[in-house]
Amino acid sequence: MTDADTTVDDIDIEALRERALTTLTTARDRTTLLTSCVDEPELTAQVSPLMSPLVWDLAHIGNQEELWLLRAVGGRDAMRPEIDGLYDAFEHPRSERPSLPLLPPAEARQYAAEVRGRVTDVLADSAFRGSRLTEAGFAFGMVAQHEQQHDETMLITHQLRTGPQALTAPDPEPVPLFTGPSEVLVPGGPFTMGTSTEPWALDNEKPAHRREVAPFYIDTTPVTNGAYLAFIEDGGYDDPRWWTKEGWAHVRRNSLVAPLFWRREAGQWLRRRFGVTEAVPLDEPVVHVCWYEADAYARWAGRRLPTEAEWEKAARHDPTSDRSMRYPWGDADPAPEHANLGQRHLRPAPAGSYPAGESPLGVRQLIGDVWEWTSSDFLPYPGFRAFPYKEYSEVFFGPEYKVLRGGSFAVDEVACRGTFRNWDYPIRRQIFSGFRTARSGAV
Ligand code: AVJ
Ligand code: FE
Repeated sequence: MTDADTTVDDIDIEALRERALTTLTTARDRTTLLTSCVDEPELTAQVSPLMSPLVWDLAHIGNQEELWLLRAVGGRDAMRPEIDGLYDAFEHPRSERPSLPLLPPAEARQYAAEVRGRVTDVLADSAFRGSRLTEAGFAFGMVAQHEQQHDETMLITHQLRTGPQALTAPDPEPVPLFTGPSEVLVPGGPFTMGTSTEPWALDNEKPAHRREVAPFYIDTTPVTNGAYLAFIEDGGYDDPRWWTKEGWAHVRRNSLVAPLFWRREAGQWLRRRFGVTEAVPLDEPVVHVCWYEADAYARWAGRRLPTEAEWEKAARHDPTSDRSMRYPWGDADPAPEHANLGQRHLRPAPAGSYPAGESPLGVRQLIGDVWEWTSSDFLPYPGFRAFPYKEYSEVFFGPEYKVLRGGSFAVDEVACRGTFRNWDYPIRRQIFSGFRTARSGAV
């Protein structure tokens, strides 16, 4: 083909191919880092019954890539049909996975690499159209997001392990103490929630629909360790007034007194973070709290958690244009000055960081740093259709799960959008979860 024959369409397709390949490569580089920074025996060990051995995540990443990109998109035969069951998350709960006959580390690596090699051939042939799965490269984006989600899961496993430090990263830039307003008024009225246009959005983010939201105030930044410490020191964990019935039963039964990984020693609060013990930094967003703790803190503070719709309106609504944007700062993909994403740092940035990433109303750090608990159950949007498989979202819809928004420092930008929805049980706190609070405004 000569230059003159190159159509606009060809260029778009080449750009798509390039983006799919770069995104998959970025994910694999991270997977490699997370699975090569500890000794082999650690890859097969189980650090916590809540987590898989790292070597399971590694082969599961390869297996999902094989299922979707080689078999579903590429029409290829199964490479190793006998291992599918081992890496089916629904067949074996995490607690069982260490006793399965898993591929040993070298074989798991080899398998994932072989899948990837063949995927590059499928990618080279893909026309990115003709089916919902390949349209705009969706399947490639979905698989890259899947790998990145497991990379976050593996980072949680790293945080839970007690050995010496295996990972390092530079700290975020220090910032002056945030002295702006503590809360922002979000005016009432309808806004567009969810998306019907984002090409790599997952099924639960769709479709776009209008939502009425009453006026409310929302914290300018996530709740900090310092603020959370005031709740602890005021006897928050000993006072049933602040807790729901289930939350109170949970903190009592498990003797919770502080966020996970915190420990009090000689009158000082310390925390363990990726193998290092350090003083709890007061200006940093609190992380590793469960929904019950977030909900109790908010009640103690005379406030409440935002609903999921309130969170999304604060993050996406542009009052000037009455439009919902992809991110708080606009429609541009995240850049390092916008948000703390992608495991660039191994901690949240101090409250008030990333002024370039603030929303039109001035709300900061909605994207990155810590996942934010909302008061909402994980439910489908009106018009939801499971795609391409029910086990991504649909089987989890219901009141047992609470929604988290915004992503953490451990989330890669491919798996982070103003519309992106995460969910977990209200007792979970090994995840990189924090929160901000809200209150209803005058109508
Ligand atoms: C969306 C983070 C709840 O890790 O359980 C990974 C993502 N789905 N493999 C999870 C997921 C299938 C999921 N979360
Ligand atoms: Fe998975």
